[in-house]
Amino acid sequence: MKNILVTGGAGFIGSAFARYMTARYPDYNIIVFDKLTYAGNLDNLLSISDEENYRFERGDIADRAAVKLALQTHDIDTVVNFAAESHVDRSILNADAFIHTDVVGVYILLDEAKQHGIERFLHVSTDEVYGDVHEGFSVETDSFAPNSPYAASKAGGELMVRSYRVTHGLNTVVTRGSNTFGAYQYPEKLLPFFITEAIDDKLLPLYGDGKQIRDWLYVEDHVSGIDTVLHKGIPGEAYNIAGEDLRHNIDVAKTMLSLLGKPETLLKHVPDREGHDRRYAMNCDKLRALGWQRSYSFDQAIELTVDWYRQNEWWWRKIKTGEYLDYYKRQYAARLAAAE
Ligand code: NAD
Ligand code: TYD
Repeated sequence: MKNILVTGGAGFIGSAFARYMTARYPDYNIIVFDKLTYAGNLDNLLSISDEENYRFERGDIADRAAVKLALQTHDIDTVVNFAAESHVDRSILNADAFIHTDVVGVYILLDEAKQHGIERFLHVSTDEVYGDVHEGFSVETDSFAPNSPYAASKAGGELMVRSYRVTHGLNTVVTRGSNTFGAYQYPEKLLPFFITEAIDDKLLPLYGDGKQIRDWLYVEDHVSGIDTVLHKGIPGEAYNIAGEDLRHNIDVAKTMLSLLGKPETLLKHVPDREGHDRRYAMNCDKLRALGWQRSYSFDQAIELTVDWYRQNEWWWRKIKTGEYLDYYKRQYAARLAAAE
């Protein structure tokens, strides 16, 4: 392994992976390939922009010619695919881009990887492919039951990965991460959205009763889990990456508010998300057997995260303009009005 193409590496988790890999493996070349959609942001990669083992290429994973050129130019032997449309609420408003990237894009990337003779292909997936888990914990052999267009598009991409392993013998591994949080997360997902809104004393729209359960995973632990699977995962296998810390949304929001010193009266129950999964929970024994364990508790990680958004207004204030405000209006204006 030497030249690694990190697709979607200008987003939240992909950029954390690029920062981690350039520091940890000075002998590897990390080439970030990213379309720079609304969620892609070169500010996320600023801290490594002068590193000798880092390069950036702008491109779409669904653009065959661009993918081919990147694989050839950088003599790529390994692909780690983070590129995706990643927000459930946006997939409910319009799923076109989800099918383009999470399904068609993954297919093109796999096909070009096969033709180029890629030695290792890691695909980053999500616990959402398992669907709503009323009780117990998902294991890697459970069947898929995706409920949102986002989750269905991720399941579709994963099935393409499986087919390229079985049919074409590509050396693939898959990771399924749980709800991830930390620095540089686009402020549309629950925690960065609520933290940045609360800093400005705005109302926080909590869907339904707020008793939905998610498994929370700090981004640094997610990235070290991907590193473990990249180096030690068995070809053809999938690995859950879980924080193993289940919390109700309302409790996550209240913890965040108390760290910021803001009142719980900012929380506003609004009409629920359509098709909203009640609970995600995964078993993580298979990854632990490869030697991985998480390094951060939820309480440590949420404190670090709240501090980061407090100290890095330069990063998020410029995002919360233009297209972001249009999205905010489409997603929340009627909900907040209905809750009045
Ligand atoms: P993100 O939305 O922050 O970043 C996605 C990145 O992909 C952006 O930089 C975007 O510009 C890029 N991109 C989108 N379409 C592209 C295309 N066609 N070609 C090239 N680049 C493209 O997402 P994230 O939260 O960092 O998630 C990364 C991956 O991890 C995704 O595959 C997601 O499904 C998965 N995941 C996320 C979470 C989570 O809680 N955020 C949990 C589990 C799994
Ligand atoms: P999100 O960060 O969108 O992640 P996912 O849907 O992939 O789990 O949402 C996390 C949880 O928070 C989910 O149950 C939906 C809820 N939520 C709200 O209650 N209000 C919001 O404004 C957002 C964005 C999410």
